[in-house]
Amino acid sequence: MGKKIILPPPFKIKSIEPIRLISHEARKHAIQEAWFNTFELQSEDVFIDLLTDSGTSAMSDNQWAGMMLGDEAYAGSKNFTHLKEVIAEVYGFPYTVPTHQGRGAEHIMSKALIGKGDWIPNNLYFTTRRAHQELAGGVWHDVSVAQAIDPRNSSLFKGNIDTKKLLALILKAKKEGVKIPYISMEACVNMAGGQPFSIKNLQSVRAISKKYNIPLYIDATRLVENAYFIQQREKGYRCTSVKKIVRKICSFADGVTVSAKKDALVNIGGFIALRDKKVFQKMRELVVIWEGLHTYGGLAGRDLEAMARGIQEMTDDDYIAHRVGQVEALGERLEKSGVPIVTPVGGHAVFLDAKRFVPHIPQKAFPAQALAAAIYAESGVRSMERGIVSGQHGDEPYDGLELVRLTIPRRVYTREHLDYVADSIIALYKKRRAIRGLKMIYAPQTLRFFQARFKEIL
Ligand SMILES: Cc1ncc(COP(=O)(O)O)c(C=O)c1O
Repeated sequence: MGKKIILPPPFKIKSIEPIRLISHEARKHAIQEAWFNTFELQSEDVFIDLLTDSGTSAMSDNQWAGMMLGDEAYAGSKNFTHLKEVIAEVYGFPYTVPTHQGRGAEHIMSKALIGKGDWIPNNLYFTTRRAHQELAGGVWHDVSVAQAIDPRNSSLFKGNIDTKKLLALILKAKKEGVKIPYISMEACVNMAGGQPFSIKNLQSVRAISKKYNIPLYIDATRLVENAYFIQQREKGYRCTSVKKIVRKICSFADGVTVSAKKDALVNIGGFIALRDKKVFQKMRELVVIWEGLHTYGGLAGRDLEAMARGIQEMTDDDYIAHRVGQVEALGERLEKSGVPIVTPVGGHAVFLDAKRFVPHIPQKAFPAQALAAAIYAESGVRSMERGIVSGQHGDEPYDGLELVRLTIPRRVYTREHLDYVADSIIALYKKRRAIRGLKMIYAPQTLRFFQARFKEIL
């Protein structure tokens, strides 16, 4: 048998940005100065930046060309018209509300739909989405499948909703006279390790939403990656294009909120797209107060154009196969070397399982935070914590996942970069006992992971 031929990226490099690896001493100093929080590092001190895939994509020549065609009119920019048309074609929704990024969309949606004391069922949560639900007076409820928080469970659709839990919640709400304004379903659930839902599960959720007359809104930030997993893993979709699967998923939803900084290949941008004209009208009124006029939503015309073109490019089957393949290849190398990771590997990131990587650090000493800091000091690679620090308030009893996310920006790094990442983490794993736990010395009230400060426990 010959060796499997690995296809190279379906693009070539036209423009480059230099990066440099500062010394080990300088890295140790930098992470101390950053209070052991990788969000506080200076980007110049980072060699390979896997903090996030948000807004870090490389744009295509076609998108850059579109930037030159920005119509910077305050109202009625032709780039917005183009964006609306593209969204209607790719997602299938007639109404679009542009926002500056995903959390802008979550804010407007929460304000438009949630009343004080309402319950919102979610498959786990995304940090900003839950924060906006709660700020609007809502109560977040988890209806994810139990496998979602089991890093060793090999189910292929750990992003599914547990329909029994969902039904039970709806019936309880009815009994207690509590309103459920919508069901919230995230594609490729970030907090579970980038895990997708299946079409089969989505159809069951839709049936419940219809029966009880509760709208279904999807966080479609990583919908293309979710669609790719459906193509690869769900029976009957192998020969269906990712573009068709995206459209099919949306046909079961009332609307989506999107951070276009991920799938849609732009550095800034977001939107809500939906079917209901009345709700759209309400959101249009709100967006003017919080984001900008309803035809730019806090974005320049050139950003709207880059987003429209990015949405057209993101469903290309060769591109998305390469993107997810790159993540899978990094995961495979780590797993083969015995490094504990969440499996199956998600769509946008490899998640290290800190509970198994540094079992000598108890959860109260923030194992994932400590591991992310150690990875930086070891290699100059920036990752981020996804565990108890990213947990919403830090006051709830928590025995969930304790992960470090190595997030791969789109179209940015080559196989050589990712080999360096794998080699460095494998080397660190061999001397993992030397990694020390941390003590939290400051935390903001919400979204504390961005700015929390730590000291090493000596
Ligand atoms: C699933 C998901 N939803 C929403 C957001 C928020 O989007 P933004 O960062 O553009 O505000 C993110 C950002 O990481 C995300 O991953």
